[in-house]
Amino acid sequence: MRKIKIPLYIDEFELDELPADILALRDAAIEAREKAYAPYSHFRVGAALLLDNGKIITGSNQENAAFPSGMCAERVAIWYAGAQYPGNKILKMFITARSEHKPINQPIPPCGACRQSMAEYEIKQKSPIEIYFSGETGKIWRTPSVANILPLLFDGKNLD
Ligand code: THU
Repeated sequence: MRKIKIPLYIDEFELDELPADILALRDAAIEAREKAYAPYSHFRVGAALLLDNGKIITGSNQENAAFPSGMCAERVAIWYAGAQYPGNKILKMFITARSEHKPINQPIPPCGACRQSMAEYEIKQKSPIEIYFSGETGKIWRTPSVANILPLLFDGKNLD
């Protein structure tokens, strides 16, 4: 038996360190977050994607009284992008979360199901998706790719 260590690196930013294009993506994610339909969790999430044609696509979490029928902000956004712009690459993504119950001042990472769903598009487009994630305030974390935050992801190649 031998242990295999799989490292994971994250870049941490203060708000005033972000470049203008990422601040614009953040503004779009915040606007989307405030359109969330989250009457059950009161936890609002917004996601904004930058496509290689310059378009910004946004999504917010959409909850349902039958809880599992709801959907996360990230998947609302990537599936819309996949449905409307199947030939375009997703370059960057900004995710922001806010609770109606308490201040969120640390980065909120995308859930496991969203990482797997986003990984599918990263593999499909053969180039990494840079993802920034954040709370309402505080530091912002960046991963250079989905694969970086989903080690051992399930890849469709496994089905060949
Ligand atoms: N949520 C997201 O939108 N994205 C995530 O990555 C994690 C959780 C939403 C789903 C649900 O509406 C609420 O946050 C609480 O889980």
